[in-house]
Amino acid sequence: MKRVWKHLIGSLILGGGLALSSIVPSAQAVEINITCGSGGPVTDFCLKTANEWADKTGHTVVQFTTPNSSSAQLGLFQQMFAAKSGDVDVVSIDVVWPGLLYKHFVDLREHFPEDFIKQFFPSIIQNNTAPDGRLVAIPRFTDAGLLYYRKDLLEKHGHQPPETWDDLKRIAEDILAKEGNTDLMGFVWQGKPYEGLTCDALEWIDSFGGGSIVEPDGTISVNNPNAVKALETAASWVGTITPESILNYQEEDARGAFQSGNAIFMRNWPYAWALGNQEGSLVKGKVGTQPLPKGTTEGSKNSGTLGGWNFAINKYSKHHKESADLIRYMTSAEVQLRQAIEVSLLPTIDAVYSEPEMIEKQPFLVSLQETFRNSVARPASITGKKYNRVSNKFWNAAYAVISGKETAQDALADLEKELTRIKGRKW
Ligand code: GLC
Repeated sequence: MKRVWKHLIGSLILGGGLALSSIVPSAQAVEINITCGSGGPVTDFCLKTANEWADKTGHTVVQFTTPNSSSAQLGLFQQMFAAKSGDVDVVSIDVVWPGLLYKHFVDLREHFPEDFIKQFFPSIIQNNTAPDGRLVAIPRFTDAGLLYYRKDLLEKHGHQPPETWDDLKRIAEDILAKEGNTDLMGFVWQGKPYEGLTCDALEWIDSFGGGSIVEPDGTISVNNPNAVKALETAASWVGTITPESILNYQEEDARGAFQSGNAIFMRNWPYAWALGNQEGSLVKGKVGTQPLPKGTTEGSKNSGTLGGWNFAINKYSKHHKESADLIRYMTSAEVQLRQAIEVSLLPTIDAVYSEPEMIEKQPFLVSLQETFRNSVARPASITGKKYNRVSNKFWNAAYAVISGKETAQDALADLEKELTRIKGRKW
């Protein structure tokens, strides 16, 4: 509340000589609670820009803090919305949540003109459109899985960046043996059983031409030889180029290891780029990025899971109008350009990619555009309100394989049965 008073007093002073009517809007100043992610520079950027809006409008913004992982955040919001809680007004939602949570969000077409909506990638607008036709979220940033590597170490040992997963393993083993540094890890990624593992395992399978778990037409495709091969390949890293502790790694654990110079390769999202190259990073200037490697079966290709975050308005909030105004500012082309430059997040407005400042200061994001456009989507749209159960079964199956508890063949055969049960007569 303190800021509300500060704004009120501020406008009383500033408006000293003005008619009383010009002070009135501040008397209606509201407090908007917003979720901005789980900490670090991305959250700081989000809060900074939210506060710019507060300063312009006289409203107040308060951060609603959430757990780290996307899965844990989802659990929290499901509980809050079941209780019709209005504690949070503007909710940052994962790209896989619209089908799970849309009933709790307001229709943004009532707040935004078509011209505004038209600026964003149509595929994300489509993704954020509920089965009942309402637009429930505005794209904040998009995301895709990438391979990061230590340019200096690859060069030192005479290696080109890997084209296939086999290349990656071979290069990592060679560098590990030659460096003889016991703190150095070959390849770090996300191995904890949560949504992050769903993202990693989907891109392994897709890179081997093994499909996307459940296809857009609803077919459960995951039990196939290419998918088996993909999971076997990932399992072969654990205990060789990847330490067993990977089974507890999320994005930030991998980034921490890579940024402190302790990993040769890392799978992560674009946000890790700005951090890896910031002042004080031990790998500043030594980081290369490229699409994730291909598999070695027929139909293999570079892949990367499509991620991203969006802003929605909680239906139980009392401040729909002000929340919409805040979202308009936070997702504007101007803020997205700064967001790309300062914290290396991918814009959701096509036009931002051709801004001269973007090309000059963030060529990394511009050059990887093709990768982002070719990314593989999780089967969230087709499985709708069952997506979280599907993802949960999938990450558990992948986890069973990488932790050596089950063979890929058994895990995928069981998964197929479970998904068939979850599907029932239709998704
Ligand atoms: C990133 C992605 C998001 C994904 C999450 C998994 O935040 O943007 O879509 O679900 O990682 O950990």
